[in-house]
Amino acid sequence: MGKFKWGLIGPGRIAQRFAESFAALESAELHAVASSNLKRGKAFAAKHGCRKAYDSYEELIKDPEVDAVYIANPHRFHFASAEACIEAGKPVLLEKPLTVNANEASFLIELANDKGVFLMEALWSRFLPVWLKVKSWVYSGIIGDIVLLDSRFGFPIPRDETDRLLNPVLAGGVLLDMGVYNVSMSQYVMDSDPEHIVCDGLVGSTGVDERVSAILNYGDAVSQFTCNFQAFTKNNFVIYGKLGHIEVEPYFWDTTKAKLVTNTGYQEDFEEPFLANGFEYQIMHAMQRILAGKLESDVITWNDTMGTQKVMDEILQTLGIRFQFDTLHTSVA
Ligand SMILES: NC(=O)c1ccc[n+]([C@@H]2O[C@H](COP(=O)([O-])OP(=O)(O)OC[C@H]3O[C@@H](n4cnc5c(N)ncnc54)[C@H](OP(=O)(O)O)[C@@H]3O)[C@@H](O)[C@H]2O)c1
Repeated sequence: MGKFKWGLIGPGRIAQRFAESFAALESAELHAVASSNLKRGKAFAAKHGCRKAYDSYEELIKDPEVDAVYIANPHRFHFASAEACIEAGKPVLLEKPLTVNANEASFLIELANDKGVFLMEALWSRFLPVWLKVKSWVYSGIIGDIVLLDSRFGFPIPRDETDRLLNPVLAGGVLLDMGVYNVSMSQYVMDSDPEHIVCDGLVGSTGVDERVSAILNYGDAVSQFTCNFQAFTKNNFVIYGKLGHIEVEPYFWDTTKAKLVTNTGYQEDFEEPFLANGFEYQIMHAMQRILAGKLESDVITWNDTMGTQKVMDEILQTLGIRFQFDTLHTSVA
């Protein structure tokens, strides 16, 4: 069997990391790239040894040799790009957040289900060896019942109001960009959705959230987190149980290290270097599930993605964030 052929839409910043991870993927290749700017697409293709560069997303989606498409454009365009892939029967690995709100996510998931096409949110941290270890520690019961998750994701960003991070027209804001990790990894640890949410934040001059603090109440446990565009925070993720705690070390979304400490003084350190840059794990997982004929991941299920999107909808609604474009949403008006 030949190599699994990926197509890539949106060769910008994070697409570089996706392409570089193929160094650890013997059974796959980056076959084609599509950019609205052919020069950018060709330069990207040349740099990463990719055979084809298209100047239209449609052409890439139509390419019969492409086995699956990775979509890495700003959040606002995730919905339309993924919809086009699914309509054409192409499996999709879609950058986080899946969409700008739960309504769009629900629409895409229903479409993928109807058409029998694989769709997965590229929440890559869930696939890292360190997080698999954390999950196994939690399941083993060694830290007892979980009572508190405590995490932060913050660093100062350049003040470019046209950049997708600050631009409301591109669905900017810290929650959808960075806080999505705090929320999704909380959901990953808790395996459930919060019963209620308390939150506050700062909406900046461009109208997007630049700081968000929230408490997700899961009943017997809570997850408290802050994400912000203004200051470096510790950027770790700590899981406190009745018998001990686990710290996923900075940066918790992009790490090889975690530490377990019990109340009796037992300590265990985990460290496993990435095979390439960490993106390879989610790619391997997606390929395996696609080849097995699955429509969704069992590590980040459609239900998991919906749970995260609903939490983010509620927080954005509380902060009064209004997107400046038409979406399918109703919950964030
Ligand atoms: N997993 C991670 O660690 C990670 C990290 C960063 C970002 N992300 C996610 O990846 C996605 C892309 O982020 P990025 O920082 O890589 O984006 P980016 O570099 O700003 O843009 C990526 C591509 O999106 C298209 N694009 C950019 N601005 C556009 C605009 N105004 N109108 C239409 N298309 C536009 C361009 O595609 P063309 O070349 O076709 O014009 C560009 O090459 C986001 O959803 C983000 O959440 C994930």
